[in-house]
Amino acid sequence: MWKKRKSAIQIKSRGELDVMREAGLVVGRTLQRLTEAVKPGITTADLDAIAEDSIRSEGATPSFKGYQGFPACICTSVNEEIVHGIPSPSKVLAEGDVISIDCGAIVDGWHGDSAVTVPVGEITPEERRLLEVCEESMWRGLAAGLAGGRLSDIGHAVETYVRGQGDYGIVEEYVGHGIGTEMHMDPAVPNYGLPGRGPVLVPGMCFAVEPMVNLGTAETLLLDDDWTVITGDGRRSAHFEHTFAVTEDGPWVLTALD
Ligand code: LMR
Ligand code: MG
Ligand code: MG
Repeated sequence: MWKKRKSAIQIKSRGELDVMREAGLVVGRTLQRLTEAVKPGITTADLDAIAEDSIRSEGATPSFKGYQGFPACICTSVNEEIVHGIPSPSKVLAEGDVISIDCGAIVDGWHGDSAVTVPVGEITPEERRLLEVCEESMWRGLAAGLAGGRLSDIGHAVETYVRGQGDYGIVEEYVGHGIGTEMHMDPAVPNYGLPGRGPVLVPGMCFAVEPMVNLGTAETLLLDDDWTVITGDGRRSAHFEHTFAVTEDGPWVLTALD
């Protein structure tokens, strides 16, 4: 989500990147705990409570809580929900669901932002493939985040990979973003487009790459809660995200656990 006027892309020092790495590790460890907790019968509000404990017990601050009025520490988007699902005690996970969990944390003013999509028990081969394609497209995008390259190389790598895998819908209304002293900063990082366009990538720039890939149409709808985004055709969606820094030695994935 990104609606502000364009401004210069924030460049971080090595020391600042080290703090962003700490925030990224809090997010990564929290998502790992949440992934392990996902099972039939657990509610998305239970997952939110685990996330809040995990983030605060590490001395970090959940960035989503209160962000533009969002009421929870994570977004939990189940099945046809693409992003921004609100955790609820009445949303009970069932065998065969897929859930996207999106998490953000702040350490000393620096942000990390990452998401995974997790199967609940057994899912169909078609759905497993959707998750694999979405995750791999994120890695392809991250790998294109090279010093001296251009911003649009990232989205081009995501799109090229997904298009080569089948007839998936790539969501266009919601995109990745710059990140640093705020969660959402310039520039927007779309998951599609031509290569070789936009700003030249410089060491110290940080971006969140977050493809949303659907089994069917790329169209989206917004539910009446004004948060939850679902697929236009009700088919399932996947969402993966990592925060990375451009460095002289290639992309440094700040939210990945080693
Ligand atoms: C994001 O990945 O940017 C999310 O965590 C939050 C949002 O508003 O999309
Ligand atoms: Mg996120
Ligand atoms: Mg993000």
